[in-house]
Amino acid sequence: MAMRLAVLISGRGSNLQALIEACADPGYPAEIGVVISNRADAPGLMRAVAADIPTIVIAHRDRGEFAAEADMRLRAEGVELICLAGFMRLLDTNFVEGWRDRVVNIHPSLLPAFRGLHAQRQALAVGVRFTGCTVHFVRPEVDTGPIIAQAVVPVLPGDDEAKLSARILAAEHRLYPLAVRLVATGRTRIVDGRVEIDGWQAPDFAKLNPC
Ligand code: GAR
Repeated sequence: MAMRLAVLISGRGSNLQALIEACADPGYPAEIGVVISNRADAPGLMRAVAADIPTIVIAHRDRGEFAAEADMRLRAEGVELICLAGFMRLLDTNFVEGWRDRVVNIHPSLLPAFRGLHAQRQALAVGVRFTGCTVHFVRPEVDTGPIIAQAVVPVLPGDDEAKLSARILAAEHRLYPLAVRLVATGRTRIVDGRVEIDGWQAPDFAKLNPC
């Protein structure tokens, strides 16, 4: 049985699109049951509509109210895993604890470096030679939690924020479906705050991170 996902977005939804395309493969171990946005004008909502996925808009005026409504809707939809995909609001601590180890997030840096907003800008400001993206289980503090998968992306001479963001985004679109596949097939276990992957094979990440 495919694991039932909810994808939470705030904007463009290109990572949502990557998950929609992954789920279109009948062999993929997950399906998207609902897309929730905190913004009615999020362009990503149209991607869900085009894929015949139900959408819900819950305004994020108050963190607690959003959490209560989202929790109710997610349980009603039978959601098993929540995927944050460019969801740009901090989730309520009780919500995160109530869904412990069932919320994952994608972030455009190699965490724990460059948490928070404008991770690509932070990377350029420091002058790192490599950055990337991370999919992790969510904990209450922003951009923290056990790391499932990462992809490394080089910073190239002449990069600006837009160029680097686009290069990282291409890696995100490969990384998120891979990480969700690992969770949905029950291959991830959290041990001492770190993720162990059952049956680890080097090729799992080799496409993203050449040796
Ligand atoms: C992505 O780069 C994602 O990693 C980032 O927002 C963008 C959303 O793009 N998320 C964060 O920075 C979360 N801390 P998308 O709407 O096209 O998927």
